[in-house]
Amino acid sequence: MKSAWRLPLLLVLLTLVPVVAGSLRLLELAGGPQLLPSNPRVDAFPLPVVLHVAAAALYAFLGALQFSARLRRRRPAWHRRAGRVLVAAGLVVAVSALWMTLSYPDAPGGGLLWGVRLVVGSAMAACLLLGFAAIRRRDIAAHRAWMIRAYALAVAAGTQTFTQGIGEAVFEPADLTTALSVSAGWVINATVAEWAVRRAPVPRRRHVLSRSAA
Ligand code: HEM
Repeated sequence: MKSAWRLPLLLVLLTLVPVVAGSLRLLELAGGPQLLPSNPRVDAFPLPVVLHVAAAALYAFLGALQFSARLRRRRPAWHRRAGRVLVAAGLVVAVSALWMTLSYPDAPGGGLLWGVRLVVGSAMAACLLLGFAAIRRRDIAAHRAWMIRAYALAVAAGTQTFTQGIGEAVFEPADLTTALSVSAGWVINATVAEWAVRRAPVPRRRHVLSRSAA
């Protein structure tokens, strides 16, 4: 496999479990077989989860492609068009996550996870808006940093498959265990994102950057 596609492929693989689980939930809500454990909150009020899963699948897949340096270089117009779709899809993911957090009662994880989800959902929306504002003023370094952060927070849904699996295997089931193991996924991804942002600095401003290349 060409190294240009290694990172996008890894990112798609990371989110495979939550995206497949979400697709099965959508299938079930559309009248198909019930293949997942039932979620009473989703059964009672499915609209936000439908928006959340559809936008998250698009955001996770299309977002992974934006990490291909070759695609960015060779198809700048594609990067720009896909980026606009991604900002919209990412905002739907973040806003629907906040909507579910505020409207779904008694979700596992208790008050701690409730608070963390409010912080993460708001932070993801803020990163997207800051990344969009940065590219409008041609600040590539800031655009790259905010978009990496937004994507990392979203695809923590994949990292949480591992952290929750470990949490459930090692500790007794409890709200605190759930809150800590889910939050660990966001902490890990946010840490990796900060490492990536600092790893390959880009000049704060590229005055010569043409509009089409942005
Ligand atoms: C690629 C990104 C994401 C994917 C693929 C994803 C996937 C999913 C899926 C499949 C569900 C439905 C669970 C079920 O049917 O029982 C769900 C629920 C939920 N997600 Fe996400 N999600 C993502 C990002 C986020 C983010 C960034 C947040 C931030 C707070 C979030 C918060 C929530 C909340 C609050 C619920 C409802 C939990 C419940 O009450 O059962 N998600 N997500």
